[in-house]
Amino acid sequence: MDLKTKLREVPNFPKEGINFIDITTVLQDAEALKECIDVMKAKIESFGDYDLIVGPESRGFIFGTPLAYAMGKGFVPIRKKGKLPYKTISVEYELEYGTDMLEMHIDAIKKGQKVVIVDDLLATGGTTKSNIKLVEQLGGEVVGIAYFVELSFLNGRDKLKGYNVESIVSY
Ligand code: PRP
Ligand code: MG
Repeated sequence: MDLKTKLREVPNFPKEGINFIDITTVLQDAEALKECIDVMKAKIESFGDYDLIVGPESRGFIFGTPLAYAMGKGFVPIRKKGKLPYKTISVEYELEYGTDMLEMHIDAIKKGQKVVIVDDLLATGGTTKSNIKLVEQLGGEVVGIAYFVELSFLNGRDKLKGYNVESIVSY
């Protein structure tokens, strides 16, 4: 199945000049959703052995949790500031205007555990870079990063040099 044909492009969202890649048309299509998760699973299997999947709020949850379930692994959420109930570590990340914080529970990853990061989309790579910092702060090892979609014209991979990066649809 050509999953690119199942994605919807929305011109000028969230603002003039941005062509938004809408994953909801894949999510609502049972066959496309299954294909997407199955192909992402195969990509993650190519990273070799690992312990946990980590995914950032909110669209990273949509793909990360079913993949963790399908592969018999645990899932660790990274959340925006103030949402996690227990003790957290945090990292600042850049928004278009200013910065915000991403957080992870302090006991979510044990030193030496191998981690795969999953998100829906790679754009500038800023989100993933922050995710890597959190994992590594706790002594986790990022063995691979998997996306459904990659906006290759934004060169996000340049921020992720030295890491195994896989995506299944590229623009
Ligand atoms: C989107 C997308 C990725 C990130 C990619 O998330 O889901 O997580 O942007 O952009 P980057 O590579 O430039 O960091 P967003 O922050 O819009 O939030 P959401 O997942 O909660 O919708
Ligand atoms: Mg996101």
